[in-house]
Amino acid sequence: MCEFDSIPEARTPGTALITGASRGLGLALARHYASAGWRVIACIRADTLPPDENGLEWRRLDVASPASITELAASLTGIPLDLVINNAAIRGDIGGLATLDPHDFLEVMRINALAPLLVARALLPHLRAGGGRIIANISSRAGSIAEGMIGDDDGDYAYRCSKAALNMATAKLALDLAADGIIVLALHPGWVRTDMGGAQAEIPVSDSAAALQGQIGRATMVDSGSFHAFDGRSIAW
Ligand SMILES: NC(=O)c1ccc[n+]([C@@H]2O[C@H](COP(=O)([O-])OP(=O)(O)OC[C@H]3O[C@@H](n4cnc5c(N)ncnc54)[C@H](OP(=O)(O)O)[C@@H]3O)[C@@H](O)[C@H]2O)c1
Repeated sequence: MCEFDSIPEARTPGTALITGASRGLGLALARHYASAGWRVIACIRADTLPPDENGLEWRRLDVASPASITELAASLTGIPLDLVINNAAIRGDIGGLATLDPHDFLEVMRINALAPLLVARALLPHLRAGGGRIIANISSRAGSIAEGMIGDDDGDYAYRCSKAALNMATAKLALDLAADGIIVLALHPGWVRTDMGGAQAEIPVSDSAAALQGQIGRATMVDSGSFHAFDGRSIAW
């Protein structure tokens, strides 16, 4: 049991769509929501989909492709969504200014910052049809201008810029979607033991997923447009 398991999840189980669910945090979130009674639409970019599990159904989505996002939305006709988690991301080059590559930079921006906006726009009719009305953007403290470089000197320009852009997208979406009663959150999952976080990372992926589920579960309109860590701590933009 992790220290966050005792945090109750206030949101009634509904239907959640999660991007980048093939491994890491996305897969852990998918399994956590499914085991809590949610119907989970777990999106992965692989051509071959695994067999559906209990409460968990796989769909194809390459978030780098606007056409793939449109196709996913079309395949969901008649399915209301209560929660969309924009989780898919890449790290890109971490060599600093000397190795910064224009193609790599734009690819990271496309996947980490642009795709969550396109996914949110494509899935809006489904979110409006659902009762939960929440978009959770998995951001990173590395994208915080105020806090992101405290004790963290990695030279990942693209990743930092992409998460800072995602934070702005979160704030702007929160404003635009307030009239629809849709909550939009930026969430930092912690330094998590995944392929991206590495083996030295502090937090087991299951603990981060459970804690994020708790944060999302308790969010209300007052929290829309905010940036919080998995443990509830507010992060300065
Ligand atoms: N781990 C950490 O310490 C940490 C810290 C702060 C924030 N985060 C954030 O947490 C989220 C999850 O990270 P993670 O640690 O689980 O990373 P990860 O282990 O590298 O997994 C990334 C996931 O994103 C998917 N993905 C990448 N590009 C995609 C695309 N074009 N279309 C669809 N899916 C795509 C990957 O799918 P494939 O298997 O197909 O590659 C994979 O499922 C990310 O938003 C990350 O920025 C992580």
